[in-house]
Formats: sequence, structure tokens, C-alpha cells
Amino acid sequence: MSSLVGVDIGSASVRAVEVRSPDKRPSIVKYAEVPLPEGSVRRGEVLEIATVATALKRLWANGKFSTKEVVLGMGGPRVLSRDLAVPRAPMDQIRESLPFHVQDLLPVPVNEALLDFYPISEGSGENGPVVNGLLVAAIKEAVNANVAAVTRAGLRPVGVDLIPFALVRGLLPNGGSRGLIAVVSIGANTTNVVLVQDGVPHFVRIIPAGGDDITRALVQRLQLSPGQAETAKRELGLTQSPPRPEHRPAADIIFEVAGEQVNAIRNTLAYFVNAKPGTSIERIVLSGGGSQLQGLARALSDLSGIPVVPSEPVGGAVLPREKVRATREQHDALTTAYALALGGVA
Ligand SMILES: Nc1ncnc2c1ncn2[C@@H]1O[C@H](COP(=O)(O)OP(=O)(O)OP(=O)(O)O)[C@@H](O)[C@H]1O
Ligand SMILES: [Mg+2]
Repeated sequence: MSSLVGVDIGSASVRAVEVRSPDKRPSIVKYAEVPLPEGSVRRGEVLEIATVATALKRLWANGKFSTKEVVLGMGGPRVLSRDLAVPRAPMDQIRESLPFHVQDLLPVPVNEALLDFYPISEGSGENGPVVNGLLVAAIKEAVNANVAAVTRAGLRPVGVDLIPFALVRGLLPNGGSRGLIAVVSIGANTTNVVLVQDGVPHFVRIIPAGGDDITRALVQRLQLSPGQAETAKRELGLTQSPPRPEHRPAADIIFEVAGEQVNAIRNTLAYFVNAKPGTSIERIVLSGGGSQLQGLARALSDLSGIPVVPSEPVGGAVLPREKVRATREQHDALTTAYALALGGVA
């Protein structure tokens, strides 16, 4: 396969990245981003199919991508994960057998879910050797509207991938280094936390919170317009120095809401570590627009006691020469779409 486009349907915009030779030496050949009207997408799920299809058509007109074959992402609260032990067998057999193992874990009939399994270790169970791993289930209904919007824009979805795992692939090329690493991505409305041991995902949690919660709190509690709230959030952030008196109410709200989010991330990491005595997380690789809040990386590192490193935008992939001047923020926004394109090669 020579070229694939990953499409990330975010809360505020759609982004697409075309990757050439995604399976060998990936290089980004084109990318584009188009804003979405407020309310057309919520937590990664398309609510207004026609509106999003129009945005996707513009995206294709702007980006001049060389293919219409796209890989879509799935994230959001309708993705579940559980630890699961299955009898040892080749991976394709394990995949086929998943529906028989999981019905009682799921809130919907098995045929309404997409299932996947990430093997972690081998062990022995009551009835012989087993493979311990991570079962991931996504409710199909959550992705139907996204597929409909993409199809209506004249594109052909060739794959649907889970965003948290795509991010691991995109941000930790070649599995990253050895040891236990937390990949944390804070979006507008979702925060993905994946724990990766020696390159293998061991745990995933999707927290339904993100940067827009701060903006919304400022709008509701200080009667600011969304634009004013966004500006106040970016300018004040989690300031270390005491804010000027007139900024105090906004600064307090940002502290409260962002503080809850940082705490939720810390608790998620602590939950994993406590369940596995003897483990410790070496570092947190942080990404997503919400992570750009001033002072957030530092707060997370102080609270968790774990070093935080900003992710390398688009995993450090090669960018087309004429686009190298794109800002760090622009690169960062494209990470999910890039990661989805990489994952399209099964
Ligand atoms: N410099 C900044 N300071 C603070 N917040 C920022 C900054 N830049 C972007 N953000 C916030 O990042 C969020 C958008 O992040 P991102 O683009 O990763 O989300 P998304 O992919 O659209 O959403 P989701 O993945 O949750 O559907 C918004 O809440 C935005 O306000
Ligand atoms: Mg996102």
C-alpha cells in the first residue's frame, strides 16, 4: 500500500494527514485541517452528518490528497477495555473466539461491538496455558455516523482504529524505549491514558474530560463569551505567580477545573501502579491541545511525581519540506490523524 489518509474528527475541527509508505518509512506528504461548527461533533461522535460531510469535502479540496481511502478513529466513552485471559492459541484464532469470552462484559449484544485483543503475557490457567491481555470493545453504533459522514463526502473508509492505540503507535515509534511509559493525550472533551510496557499497551482509560471543560466553566460561571473564555484560558493557564485582582475569578476557575483533570490522570496512573506492586512509571509522554495549557505539564509532574515530556509532534515523522514551517501547535494537532494513517496497514 503506497499511501493512506488518516482522518481525525475532533471536537473543533477535522484533520487529515496523508502518509506515504505507512508500513515502511512513513513520511507525511500532505495535511489539512478545517474547522467544524460548534455542536456538529461531540466526543468524537458525529452528530450532524451533512455538516461534517461538507467540512470533509472542503478538507479534500484544500489538502489535495492523492487517495480517497481513509482510516477513521474511534475514541470516546463508548470504548471499553478489560483484562482478559484466553486459552493460548494463534492470534487469529484468539480474535475469532473473542465473542464467546466477552458477552457478559459488554452492555450491548456482541454483534454490536467491535472487539480487539492486545496480548500482554503468557501464563497458566485452570484448564491449561493462557494468554493474558487487554480486551478492547467499541460500540459500533458510535462510529456509524462518522462512517456515514465520510462516505457522504465521497471518501472510502478502509479501516477504523482505536484512537488511544493509534496514539501509542504514532507517539512511540518502534514501541518507544523499554520500561513503563504513560501516553497521555488531553483533547477538547476526551483524555486518553495508555500505559505501555516495553512497547506493549497494558492498560487504557478514556476519561471524558478535556480542555473545553475549562472554557465552558468560564462561560457559565463568569458569563464570558466562548471567545473571551478561550483567550482567558490560554493567557492565564495555571499561572504560578498570583494573578492580578481582576483576573482572579478566572484564574480560580481554571485552577479548579484543570486541577480536577490533572488529579483524574494522576489517580488513573496510581490505580494501575497500585494493582501491580513493584512497577513504576518512568515518564509521561504528553500530547493533545488541552496539554498546551500553561503550567499543566508541570502540575501533572508535581502531583504524580513522574517526569513529563512533551510528545514529539507527529512522532518525529518526516514532514514535507514546504510545510516544515508549520507551528508546533499545528503539528501537534495532526498527531492523531497521522497515527491513524500509520495504523491502516494491518
Ligand atoms: N495554547 C493553549 N492553551 C490552552 N488550551 C489550549 C491551547 N491550545 C489548544 N488548547 C485547547 O485544546 C483543546 C483542543 O485540543 P485537541 O485539538 O487535541 O482536541 P480535539 O481533538 O479537537 O478534541 P477531542 O479529541 O477531545 O475530540 C481545546 O480545548 C483548546 O482550547
Ligand atoms: Mg483529539
